[in-house]
Amino acid sequence: MKTVFSGIQPSGTLTLGNYLGALQHFVGLQEDHRCFFCIVDQHAVTVPQDKLKLRHNIRSLAALYLAAGIDPQKSTLFIQSEVPAHAQLGWIMQCTAYIGELERMTQFKDKSAGKEAVSAALLTYPPLMAADILLYSTDIVPVGEDQKQHLELTRDLAERFNYKYNDIFTVPEVQIPKVGARIMSLQNPLKKMSKSDENQKGFISMLDDDNTIIKKLKSAVTDSENEIRFDRENKPGVSNLMSIFSLATGKSLQVIEKEYHGKGYGDFKQDVGEAVADLLRPVRERHNELIESAELDDILDEGADRANQSAIKMLKKAERALGLGRKKR
Ligand code: TYM
Repeated sequence: MKTVFSGIQPSGTLTLGNYLGALQHFVGLQEDHRCFFCIVDQHAVTVPQDKLKLRHNIRSLAALYLAAGIDPQKSTLFIQSEVPAHAQLGWIMQCTAYIGELERMTQFKDKSAGKEAVSAALLTYPPLMAADILLYSTDIVPVGEDQKQHLELTRDLAERFNYKYNDIFTVPEVQIPKVGARIMSLQNPLKKMSKSDENQKGFISMLDDDNTIIKKLKSAVTDSENEIRFDRENKPGVSNLMSIFSLATGKSLQVIEKEYHGKGYGDFKQDVGEAVADLLRPVRERHNELIESAELDDILDEGADRANQSAIKMLKKAERALGLGRKKR
């Protein structure tokens, strides 16, 4: 059975982009894979966080994973900071990485551009991400398009370590969905949908109510053509809405084009809004039931135990390969 690992940052409420690009795909993988899903809270603190909000966001993200269909009987759901091996192997990965390759990461460049006080961890974030993945002998990492470069680096670090010290790490494959790998902002379809967007209308939060979802989709930026056709280059706004609609309803892009032939943007946006509201409503309701429950704590305790058991074994192998500590075996 192949192993799957993926993580999401609790740095705000998840967006529709996180859901369609990542979380939704995790659910199907549980059936025939050994799955680890992580709330990567140590990644979130690479930029300043409000303590109370962070704590809330960690619980909320755990509740969203479960509400979306992650089954704790099938998958291990846990919080990164509750499994110390992540930070420990993260250090070893920092020793394996070169500054030059970290400086070339586009996310580092974007997040640090024009800022004076940038944490060192913003630069060394990808080695921690590599550690997350390599600890579990992961075969497959399902992520959205924006994580591709980090995954390439993870593969390089695994190969470099295996070559230099001992062949202990599985080199993971990245899995990026065909549709929805990059859901764009509703206000600027050339920019990815992001929870840190200052314009609230640019993203749909997974906890937005039905009316807000419908309103945001109605005010999505499109073009002046009034033709519903998939053409990412010339019609990025409409193409983004078509991808969202396709993922929310299961209809293919071709079927959508046919169905809306000759129809205007107004009707189309209303239908996309309703489809997304229908998709997110049950997830939001289940999230609200779970967030303060003792069940959530039990699941996370159990998840941390299971993750710790696997992770510690790989950490020890890596330490031994490097010659750290006193033990030979
Ligand atoms: P994060 O928390 O930014 O995003 C979580 C997942 O959502 C995907 N995603 C999107 N997909 C489509 N359209 C969008 N607009 C969109 N925005 C985000 C991301 O690609 C990601 O799959 N570094 C990671 C977290 C991480 C991780 C890991 C992931 C830490 N360790 C190990 C995989 C394996 C991140 O910041 O994701």
